Amino acid sequence: MDGTESAPTMLVALLDGTVLPGDAPLLRPDDSGVLRGDGVFETTLAVDGVARDVDEHLRRLAGSAAALRLTLPGPGAWRTGIDAALAAVPAGSADGGADGGVDGGADWSQTLVRLVATRGAPGAGPTCFVTVGPVPDGVRAQRRGVRVLTLDRGIGGGDAAAVPWLLAGAKTLSYAVNMAAVRHAVAQGADDAVFVAPDGAVLEAPTATVVLAWERSLVTPPVDGILAGITVRRLFAAAEAAGWSTGSQVVPSADLHAADGMWLVSSARLLAPVTAVDGADRDSDRQRALTVELAALLQVPTG
Ligand SMILES: Cc1ncc(COP(=O)(O)O)c(C=O)c1O
Repeated sequence: MDGTESAPTMLVALLDGTVLPGDAPLLRPDDSGVLRGDGVFETTLAVDGVARDVDEHLRRLAGSAAALRLTLPGPGAWRTGIDAALAAVPAGSADGGADGGVDGGADWSQTLVRLVATRGAPGAGPTCFVTVGPVPDGVRAQRRGVRVLTLDRGIGGGDAAAVPWLLAGAKTLSYAVNMAAVRHAVAQGADDAVFVAPDGAVLEAPTATVVLAWERSLVTPPVDGILAGITVRRLFAAAEAAGWSTGSQVVPSADLHAADGMWLVSSARLLAPVTAVDGADRDSDRQRALTVELAALLQVPTG
């Protein structure tokens, strides 16, 4: 970049390795992804140009596509897109180079990598692409603390298997409900939501997995009608290696107040300590200390 162009805020790569500017026309107006949210996606984080947990995200993408009976290109093609997109990240930024990782005001040292596949336009086959862009400030802010509101999801985790067409547990492009839940929580003075089942069991956040700490144990709700989180698996593996016990079990919503620590974890925000639940403060020195410890286990980059 010669200093006269404005820095890109997003780049797109196709699965043949072609890289396009983030504002390039890409979708037809009759693409099912636009008309019906009919498609799947994944989000992961690249730190200093290296994407985390790519195999796991590609496996989950394939699982979500199978739930939609959508046939997609295989992992090799997606890797071509990911590699091309990351290689195109503005020079001197992904590697925290001479400009300190800042390019045109945007810090690309932590990059959000999105894999997107729609069912496509009639007769055209799926539309597949990869986007890269700096981690939004709001996502980084969540790493410092998040206030949540519990919201009834209307269907329990165990009940979701009987209604597979609701796609609970698949990462589909139909996230309008999830985003509406976040906006509802924000309108009530919180930052994010946590879905609970009609019987009060904790499920997941609209874009994150719930993790609780009790002394040296980490607990998360069973992967039943919720997305199988990759970050929680990474966290639990590292925690077990460091002597923690970990497991999944039914979490009654009262536990959200009583646990020693509570976090929303996901690939982008990594580890967000929950500082309030339904308006009740749950910040504590203990939770702050545990957050530092778990962030190190999860290799959360600073900044
Ligand atoms: C509904 C939902 N649950 C959990 C997660 C966390 O998953 P991961 O850690 O794999 O990013 C996400 C991620 O976006 C999500 O959308």
